[in-house]
Amino acid sequence: MCGIVGYVGQRPASPSSRPVDVALQGLARLEYRGYDSAGVAVLDGSEVRVAKAKGKLKNLRGVLEGQDVPTSAVAIGHTRWATHGAPTDENAHPHLGGKDDELALVHNGIIENFAALRASLEADGYTFRSETDSEAAAHLVAREMQRTGDLTLALRAAAVQLEGAFTLLAIHRDQPDRVVAARRNSPLVVGLGEGENYLGSDVAAFVDNTREALEIGQDQVVTVTADDVAVTDFEGTEVTEKKQYTIAWDVAAAQKGGYDSFMAKEIHEQATAVADTLRGRIESGALHLDEMSIDESVLRSIDKIIVVACGTAANAGNVAKYAIEHWCRIPTEVELAHEFRYRDPIVTEKTLVVAISQSGETMDTLMAMRHAQEQGAKVVAICNTYGSTIPREADAALYLHVGPEIAVASTKAYLGQITACYLLGLYLAQVRGNLFPDEIAALMEDLEQLPAHVQTVLDGAGAVEELAQSMKDTTSVLFLGRHVGYPTALEGALKLKEIAYIHAEGFAAGELKHGPIALVDEGQPVFVIVPSPRGRDSLHSKVVSNIQEVRARGARTLVIAEEGDEDVLPYSDVVLRVPATRTLFAPLLTVIPLQIFSCALAAAKGLDVDQPRNLAKSVTVE
Ligand code: F6R
Repeated sequence: MCGIVGYVGQRPASPSSRPVDVALQGLARLEYRGYDSAGVAVLDGSEVRVAKAKGKLKNLRGVLEGQDVPTSAVAIGHTRWATHGAPTDENAHPHLGGKDDELALVHNGIIENFAALRASLEADGYTFRSETDSEAAAHLVAREMQRTGDLTLALRAAAVQLEGAFTLLAIHRDQPDRVVAARRNSPLVVGLGEGENYLGSDVAAFVDNTREALEIGQDQVVTVTADDVAVTDFEGTEVTEKKQYTIAWDVAAAQKGGYDSFMAKEIHEQATAVADTLRGRIESGALHLDEMSIDESVLRSIDKIIVVACGTAANAGNVAKYAIEHWCRIPTEVELAHEFRYRDPIVTEKTLVVAISQSGETMDTLMAMRHAQEQGAKVVAICNTYGSTIPREADAALYLHVGPEIAVASTKAYLGQITACYLLGLYLAQVRGNLFPDEIAALMEDLEQLPAHVQTVLDGAGAVEELAQSMKDTTSVLFLGRHVGYPTALEGALKLKEIAYIHAEGFAAGELKHGPIALVDEGQPVFVIVPSPRGRDSLHSKVVSNIQEVRARGARTLVIAEEGDEDVLPYSDVVLRVPATRTLFAPLLTVIPLQIFSCALAAAKGLDVDQPRNLAKSVTVE
């Protein structure tokens, strides 16, 4: 949700290596975070120069084309997901600040007290040109700069007056050698180069140029020049223990690599993704989660688990519930993070909260997790983005290690999240003695087969793509599943809605007869996720009955079933096969045809698969 970049350095003057080009390159990598508008600012002697345009980054490039952009030492840039004010040129960042436009500022987050600040600044003679909350921050920093004469002091003084969430980056004509930034509840990382340094909402902003990164903590201000990075807290105390790390992936991971979209690429990376999440965590059949920095005695004492997450991550949580309850016999609830704290949840010191978030920055999830911590609960974060806020604030963090996910619609992170949840569930079962070591070893052995099974499903992508192509005029699709097939149905529907803009709903298959079956009419496409016939109980036969029920009412049944399952054949218009695995592990396989289907259908409709309308990758507002 909004991407911000900053650059300080002097590169040899070549047309493609001006600071503005470095900023544009960073914005291209961050565009997945928001694409309502884009803008950059540089210094031109005693003047601050800003270029901005509504819409995608290519519009900004159009504005800049042929312009003689000055080669100042600094540049800042922004790609916006609109909150306050429509996506217009005026509301695009950077915003100029001061009575003489002496400063430029970009902002990610929401400033809650902007109305009061704006009134005070207007009373002081500052003129506003936009409807944004961010412009108040620009003038506020400019006013503090007037008072203090130093951009770092000005940022600090402004930061303590702001309420809400913000990462701010500012440049000022009186200190042309630096970018100063402040952060609270919103992401910021520094990239360390040789004689040049970078700032970004995430490391993708600068991974083309450096893989050395520095975390910036909550409520900190960082002053970046070409040769120095100085970090303090909002009170001005120097931060001496800085966390520097090397980015574990390279620029190829942030490129499409021959695929038509990042989403297609990320779907096809999923065998590796599952293997990467498992890597190094299993030894001689036992689980080693070095990151589980919560004492085993605490884990043994917990009497309830609450998973908090949103969207796709919540669907992963719903899979986790079945696995954790089955293996660990701990009651497990899954709560949409944005609903969690409003229902006065029962949380005690014996509650373990699992916060699942690809980005690690989802504000709803962060707030839910903080609420739980205030009640004494311990929090385990399951996260993909190293050093992001959620894992930093959690008591323990399990990283997915699936590499950057750039398409807005989550795919490989979903498989990574489910895999990490299995690891967590089995680890708890190991620590608490719910399963015998040989049972855990057998489960782990099967889990290690999953990357190969995922690859088998991916190898069959062609048939699913053809199906999608033939259905590009479809206006409604239903998805049915039971047990772990239910979250898969929800995820299949979510994918189709968000990237193909088709009405889609996922249901627990048993719920259909309680109302939704009225939707089924002649030709209505219905995906059904069928559990293994080798599973326990009557789960399989019940789902086969559900297929018959919808088919009897004219539905076109698109069935995802295990290889060799003959029972589904009489009632299926289309059968998509997945390899046999344990019922609890099947969600890693059955969702893949649904991901491929949405991706191919959106592409067939000519839509922007990676950047669907109205969405942003990282939702940093509540
Ligand atoms: C859907 C999707 C979203 C995210 C949700 C949570 O494809 O990506 O539903 O899953 O916004 O995001 P994270 O996992 O970053 O907390």
